Amino acid sequence: MYQVIARKYRPQSFVDVVNQEHVKTTLENAIAQNRIAHGYIFSGQRGTGKTTVARILARCLNCVNGPTNKPCGECASCREIAAGGSVDVIEIDAASNRGINEMRELRENVRYQPARDRYKVFIIDEAHQITNEAFNALLKTIEEPPAWAVFMLCTTEAHKIPATIASRCQQFSFRSVDFEDLVARMAWICEQEGIHADAEALAVLAQAGEGSVRDSLSALDQAIACCGDTLSATEVRALLGAFSLDALEQVSQALIESAPARMLEVVNELERNGHNLQHFSRELARYFRNLLVARLTGGETRLIAASAAERQKLAEIAGKFSEEDLTRYLQLSLDLFSDLQASLQPRFHLELGLLRMVHAGRLVSIEEALAGIPAAAERPHTAARPQPPAPSPQQGSWREKLHATLMELGMAFTADAVEHSEIVETNGELRFTTPKEFSLAMQEADLSKALRQIGGRPLRIKIMIGEAAVQEKIAVPAAREDDLSQRALANPEVQRFRDVFGGEVRTVRNLKE
Ligand SMILES: Nc1ncnc2c1ncn2[C@@H]1O[C@H](COP(=O)(O)OP(=O)(O)O)[C@@H](O)[C@H]1O
Ligand SMILES: [Mg+2]
Ligand SMILES: [Zn+2]
Repeated sequence: MYQVIARKYRPQSFVDVVNQEHVKTTLENAIAQNRIAHGYIFSGQRGTGKTTVARILARCLNCVNGPTNKPCGECASCREIAAGGSVDVIEIDAASNRGINEMRELRENVRYQPARDRYKVFIIDEAHQITNEAFNALLKTIEEPPAWAVFMLCTTEAHKIPATIASRCQQFSFRSVDFEDLVARMAWICEQEGIHADAEALAVLAQAGEGSVRDSLSALDQAIACCGDTLSATEVRALLGAFSLDALEQVSQALIESAPARMLEVVNELERNGHNLQHFSRELARYFRNLLVARLTGGETRLIAASAAERQKLAEIAGKFSEEDLTRYLQLSLDLFSDLQASLQPRFHLELGLLRMVHAGRLVSIEEALAGIPAAAERPHTAARPQPPAPSPQQGSWREKLHATLMELGMAFTADAVEHSEIVETNGELRFTTPKEFSLAMQEADLSKALRQIGGRPLRIKIMIGEAAVQEKIAVPAAREDDLSQRALANPEVQRFRDVFGGEVRTVRNLKE
């Protein structure tokens, strides 16, 4: 019978576990010093070795030579654990046994000594699926476990394990496996299996797993079933529905040439070949991310999960764009990806998104446009606008500091409101008198955040609403001439936008409502 590769090559000792060095070292040391905990939590992405490590640890504990960090692999315990059939190593799949009855049963079971081995090990897979009551039933046992009991909870969602349980366990988080290590592991497995796979093909398989060894090995199985004992990148790509780099390179070429028509060709090709467009948009985002990383690093980096030849190519293409361009394309491709998730017309959305990218290459950003305009205070017609009351020296220095800090914290509206407020410091209190139209932006929480940032002696904050400042009249449709519009239109940032972009303000909406 054919055994799938992922299971056939499940590591039987720590040395064969790829990555996860921190987990291996810590556990090996603990065993060497005979400091065995009663509870472990192994968390992390699926297919990264949690169950594998739990079983290896069980072997370390129960091997006839144990506890040892080099289990013999030959004794009855070692062999049974590998096959998943040891009486004293109990594996529970919490996805299907998540209720209180199962946990009560388990609690009963824990009380009895191991049948043969040193420890009774409970490996609970998908532990986050256990219900709350069931966790409560388990808690007592984990709080006061018999000397022989060891729990290993494996989960992809550590945050769902109740704190009461987690605090009684040692936690290990498993990292997604590095691309290079994964490729090396697969190359070794192929060698064992007599499969010839070129570096490019292995790279495609490794990418398909997105850091999960299991998923990459499943892809390898699929490739062998389909292509036999020689794997080529082209075939593997076609099999996995991965896009030839061609399609992605066409996109960057179209951007380099500012050729919108070429973008439409790309989409047409994809449709013709029956590709999933959502999937393509995700690959596109990954592609721009890789280009950006290549632009920033020159391409020789582990941050890009690709073969050396591919990285070289990415660096070459990235060199034709500026960092800002690539950042913008990455943002646009992410937007496109999320648009496509819900789209009933993925083709049109994709076309639109790609055309936007072509145009974005020629756009000046809003920040750049605004940078060219003098700030509100320097503009000629500000004479007509209300000036903040003349500050006393002390007030002035509060205003300045708060303004700068609020801007730093990204609270431009509050900064502006402070600018227009009277500020008095008395008896450990900072008192703001704010014109009505700015009062919305004067939130105590924001102000105290800024004060904390400035440091110094803590001050109470008091906000009073003062008389409305004299308004500069702005033409708005009569029906809209309400309080909200006035406040919005009086805002200097809004005025700057109107200066730069012109146009007419039709509606003002309060996004908090
Ligand atoms: N870190 C790893 N090193 C080597 N092989 C691994 C690793 N992680 C997973 N695998 C492979 O993937 C299969 C599934 O791993 P498993 O430990 O069950 O993952 P999970 O983290 O989902 O519990 C294993 O049988 C093994 O072949
Ligand atoms: Mg598992
Ligand atoms: Zn053994």
